[in-house]
Amino acid sequence: MMQWSGSISFVFWGLLWLCSADNPGIKVRFTEKGLKYGVEYGMNYLRSNKSETSLPDIKGNVAMGQDKMTYEFTEVRIVNFHFENISPAFVPGTGVQIAIQDGNATIKSNFKLYGWLMSDSGSSVLTLTEISASVVIGVARSASNKTQVYLSKCQFDINGIDINMVGGVSYIYDAIKEPMQKMIRNNLNEQLCSSVKALIQRWDESLSQRQPNVSLNDYVDLDVSLVSEPKISEKYAELDLKGMFYSKLNGSETGLSSSPMSFDAKADSMINAGMSESSLNSASQAYYNGGAFTFHLSNAISSFKLTTSQMADILPELSQRYPNPQKVRVLISASRAPHFYLKPDNLTVAFNGIIKAYVPVSKTRQETLFTANTDVSISANVSLSDYNHLPGFNFTGFISLNSIQVQLEKSQSGTMIPKVENLKQGVYVPFNPVSNASAIVNQGFLVLNTDVILAHVYQ
Ligand SMILES: *[C@@H]1O[C@H](CO)[C@@H](O)[C@H](O)[C@H]1NC(C)=O
Ligand SMILES: *[C@@H]1O[C@H](CO)[C@@H](O)[C@H](O)[C@H]1NC(C)=O
Ligand SMILES: *[C@@H]1O[C@H](CO)[C@@H](O)[C@H](O)[C@H]1NC(C)=O
Ligand SMILES: *[C@@H]1O[C@H](CO)[C@@H](O)[C@H](O)[C@H]1NC(C)=O
Ligand SMILES: *[C@@H]1O[C@H](CO)[C@@H](O)[C@H](O)[C@H]1NC(C)=O
Ligand SMILES: *[C@@H]1O[C@H](CO)[C@@H](O)[C@H](O)[C@H]1NC(C)=O
Ligand SMILES: *[C@@H]1O[C@H](CO)[C@@H](O)[C@H](O)[C@H]1NC(C)=O
Ligand SMILES: *[C@@H]1O[C@H](CO)[C@@H](O)[C@H](O)[C@H]1NC(C)=O
Ligand SMILES: *[C@@H]1O[C@H](CO)[C@@H](O)[C@H](O)[C@H]1NC(C)=O
Repeated sequence: MMQWSGSISFVFWGLLWLCSADNPGIKVRFTEKGLKYGVEYGMNYLRSNKSETSLPDIKGNVAMGQDKMTYEFTEVRIVNFHFENISPAFVPGTGVQIAIQDGNATIKSNFKLYGWLMSDSGSSVLTLTEISASVVIGVARSASNKTQVYLSKCQFDINGIDINMVGGVSYIYDAIKEPMQKMIRNNLNEQLCSSVKALIQRWDESLSQRQPNVSLNDYVDLDVSLVSEPKISEKYAELDLKGMFYSKLNGSETGLSSSPMSFDAKADSMINAGMSESSLNSASQAYYNGGAFTFHLSNAISSFKLTTSQMADILPELSQRYPNPQKVRVLISASRAPHFYLKPDNLTVAFNGIIKAYVPVSKTRQETLFTANTDVSISANVSLSDYNHLPGFNFTGFISLNSIQVQLEKSQSGTMIPKVENLKQGVYVPFNPVSNASAIVNQGFLVLNTDVILAHVYQ
């Protein structure tokens, strides 16, 4: 019996380990709303780029009477591309389809025409109308767990084509115009697709360079490698990312692993993102290793001002030591990375650190008032909402101090009574890349539903 339960628990823990090794730290879901916004933004960006797109040379032969004429278009470039409708959609299991209708384009080039009887050269203008296109961009996981994009399908249909050759002998062109246009049309389908393919390859390369580690600032990296294949359904694309944060200054392999997370899709937000408790704590560790949790209170909260006379209630001797009120600086430094616990509607932070209060007497000298060890546990039911349509969010919730222990050096320790702070009015947290954000804290992970403002991301 013992042996059985032993091996069963071995299998159980083994399975659990296998599962947890593949759980994402961050799960990102792009909705149809996000896709539409992203594609429109991308198209406007491409459109606003006035530089001309080059295409490969076009070569071919046409018959003219007994003669075979060879034509050659070089320095082919798209100088104009308009379209009325663009409709993006998810292609389940593959990626994203972008369809364009009613497009038109102007293509300029130099031409050469030669055969038995004659040869000629000049410049030409091709006008293309009634263009429709369907491009499918695949999204996959590479062997090194990077997110990859590739051209999965490409189809251009050009119904109207008109060629205008400047400086040529017109009767010759009139004779060969039609067969030439037909061949150019076929050629162009291929050329346009190879141009799209090259563009997507460039995206893939720049995407690849940013992986697996995305640099968030001078001292923190985020590992965004995929822990499973991208999941693409009709309604959304989902990426399961490792989502572990690392310090660039002081390597911090936290070895944390995430528990599974599942949450409902929220279609009226562009992005639904889940972040595990482990991912959040790895961020805390990385920022801690980078020195982010050592700060002056007045730098963190600009309205924070404290004088020796205000502190005389706690430390009466200060009124004698400083007859004139002096500015007090408070330095807080965490002794270890603050730890986060996530439970339904309850985000708890445990902070352990040292508080030092001092009076800066001169640039080089300071007088320490006290140094204290603190142990603080703060819980909040966080709620995010819109703040007057400004980028960022309205932070509301109940913040409660579960416990605080302050141990003054050479003095007695004290435990304060739990206290509740109600941020009913909401606090505006400016954060340019997001708008319309809401957050939910679940068991072991938190979910953020938000719209993004790409103009603020790529400035
Ligand atoms: C504009 O397009 C050209 C070629 O298509 C490309 O080389 C260039 O990087 C683009 N510029 C910007 C700002 O994207
Ligand atoms: C091309 O399309 C734009 C709008 O999409 C239109 O204004 C323009 O007249 C069209 N040009 C041709 C040659 O059809
Ligand atoms: C890719 O991820 C899988 C599972 O998430 C892991 O077993 C494998 O070692 C990773 N490969 C690389 C090259 O990191
Ligand atoms: C990503 O960053 C971590 C921590 O800095 C590092 O250990 C790892 O080697 C990096 N991976 C790559 C592929 O650069
Ligand atoms: C690196 O971080 C560890 C804690 O994770 C800390 O003990 C150590 O002092 C740090 N090293 C440096 C050079 O900051
Ligand atoms: C939130 O959770 C912490 C422990 O994780 C607990 O001490 C605290 O009482 C909880 N707060 C509420 C309001 O449930
Ligand atoms: C937060 O907690 C308070 C007190 O427990 C409760 O009255 C309030 O409804 C909660 N708010 C949210 C958004 O859960
Ligand atoms: C922020 O949220 C609170 C609570 O929902 C609300 O009372 C307040 O009006 C909001 N502030 C703004 C500027 O929308
Ligand atoms: C936020 O939501 C409102 C209403 O749904 C919408 O009009 C607005 O465009 C959204 N903001 C962004 C940046 O998408």
